[in-house]
Amino acid sequence: MDKIIIEGGKTQLKGEVIIEGAKNAVLPLLAATILPTEGQTVLKNVPILSDVFTMNNVVRGLDVTVHFNEAENEVTVDARGDILDVAPYEYVSKMRASIVVLGPILARNGHAKVSMPGGCTIGSRPIDLHLKGLEAMGAKIEQTGGDITATADRLKGANIYMDFPSVGATQNLMMAATLAEGTTTIENAAREPEIVDLANLLNKMGASVTGAGTENLTIIGVDKMHGAEHSVVQDRIEAGTFMVAAAMTNGDVLIKDAVWEHNRPLISKLREMGVEVTEEEAGIRVVSNLDHLKPVTVKTMPHPGFPTDMQAQFTALMAVVSGESTMIETVFENRFQHLEEMRRMGLNSEILRDTARIHGGLPLQGAQVMSTDLRASAALILTGMVAEGTTIVGKLTHLDRGYYKFHEKLAQLGANIRRVNGDS
Ligand code: EPU
Repeated sequence: MDKIIIEGGKTQLKGEVIIEGAKNAVLPLLAATILPTEGQTVLKNVPILSDVFTMNNVVRGLDVTVHFNEAENEVTVDARGDILDVAPYEYVSKMRASIVVLGPILARNGHAKVSMPGGCTIGSRPIDLHLKGLEAMGAKIEQTGGDITATADRLKGANIYMDFPSVGATQNLMMAATLAEGTTTIENAAREPEIVDLANLLNKMGASVTGAGTENLTIIGVDKMHGAEHSVVQDRIEAGTFMVAAAMTNGDVLIKDAVWEHNRPLISKLREMGVEVTEEEAGIRVVSNLDHLKPVTVKTMPHPGFPTDMQAQFTALMAVVSGESTMIETVFENRFQHLEEMRRMGLNSEILRDTARIHGGLPLQGAQVMSTDLRASAALILTGMVAEGTTIVGKLTHLDRGYYKFHEKLAQLGANIRRVNGDS
């Protein structure tokens, strides 16, 4: 098992960093490639991540041709001809996000069988909103033996109100509705940039989706869809992670091609802390002086609120800013496990239900720690850069799901960091 080893304490990140296409955008985009019965779909700016390989395999498992040209960051999908309708446990258990194939398979085939995703370290993550929405569109849903079976000769447009703006449910229902008979409206829909990216691809494929990026989506069903070419939106969470890394290390970093609009909630909190964040033609520049930063209170919310996927990294920043900061996590019920690991590095924090109080300030000490989920692994690596001495971060399978060459990018910015095989 690989490990990342960081010699921390004096790190000051400087320079430029390039951001990949967004993991959380490309996974539903790959699910959408199942929909067209004519032509091929070409996705560009595809990040090389283990989750992308898993989703490629889910789509391949439906008897669809998928070619990943890694040198060009390009995936070509040919879903013409008959496709299968089963997404097996083998893949769904590996990656919860594979549940987004349920809507497109059902819409295209009239029948879909997808394994029920299991629990997850950050929260219980039910899929009731996905299933209720499909039922409202006329699908008959059965759950037996750990599988969800959905059947509908042809889905029918419906008015759907979501109790919570779930990202995955919005994506699943949006894709299902593209081939339904009639018009579907989704109220209280998720508004994340990844939803807009999916709507853009669907429209290029001949669908009619309006309102993406607002809380009301309208999808007018069409009879068939065709392949299209699309470039995946930049990863706002990877960009945000490097913004926080610069802020923690008295850095001066240009995050190239990062989209200002997508990172607004994070930028607003960084500025409130005293970090200098400016928009340049080439991207977003972050300049920081830790001595001048002050503690803040942050509450995670669905977009355009502060993203839960930046919570762990932001608590790492809170840990080095003198004074008491507060982080309230409202999206997932168990997403503070990194704080327990950071305690091993000397962090003083208390967690009461959804609220963490962080008594920040250096010094912190390097330690051997374990990633508990994807964003936690990034947070621990960032903390390792500012902690005195050596930090060893294990269980990198989480990191590889969502960050491409994370240690190399940090090393290029000046961090003393390397990745080694567990045996060395
Ligand atoms: N929820 C329900 N019922 C549902 C669906 C969701 O109660 O049917 C609840 C969940 O339990 C959770 C909340 O709603 O408490 C938010 O879940 P959502 O469905 O919005 O999340 P998701 O689609 O499963 C995506 C990202 C996550 C990100 C969340 C929230 C992908 C592949 N994953 O998950 O990304 O945290 O939205 O923004 O897009 C990550 O990248 O580290 C990550 C976990």
